[in-house]
Amino acid sequence: MQNDIQEVLITEEELQQKIKELGRTLSEEYAGRTPLVICVLKGAFIFMADLVKAITVPVEMDFMAVSSYGASTKSSGVVKIIKDLDVSVEGRDILIVEDIIDSGLTLSYLIELLRNRNAASINVVTLFDKPSGRTVNLEARYTGFVLPDEFVVGYGLDYAERYRNLPYVGVLKPEIYSN
Ligand code: PRP
Ligand code: MN
Ligand code: MG
Repeated sequence: MQNDIQEVLITEEELQQKIKELGRTLSEEYAGRTPLVICVLKGAFIFMADLVKAITVPVEMDFMAVSSYGASTKSSGVVKIIKDLDVSVEGRDILIVEDIIDSGLTLSYLIELLRNRNAASINVVTLFDKPSGRTVNLEARYTGFVLPDEFVVGYGLDYAERYRNLPYVGVLKPEIYSN
């Protein structure tokens, strides 16, 4: 275990098993269609890579970079588009892939944006959900794990851009972010 991690919450095996399940469910949901799968960078990139390998229907992919947290452990409430999509979403079945829903601000902003661009349908799959953080009413259609109200890192989740590459999800030692 990495030295800055106090406790592992979800192991690599648990993550991989859940992602395979989600892939199967999504393959059924999108049978006969070719969804445009949108990865919300940066946090979702590792989940995206494993999830699309578990989906058996044809998919197209695009990437959008947004940020609301910066180098803080709290959401700023302002969602910034760092990189927009390359392709049009008009008339497309959209599957948004997120690593985590906390306040819900990032996703409510994105969903509104894609609606205004006339997507045919919009679903959200999130690997993690922290319902205790919600400030806007929002639920993903598919959720991997519900997390407690703790600041966790790994498997895409960062603190000040670090720890995204941990293959598991862990709780950061408080001394790492309290100084
Ligand atoms: C994190 C996370 C989600 C969002 C969730 O992204 O990856 O995208 O915050 O929080 P919310 O529901 O309160 O909006 P962040 O802004 O840290 O950018 P990152 O993905 O590049 O780390
Ligand atoms: Mn993010
Ligand atoms: Mg972040």
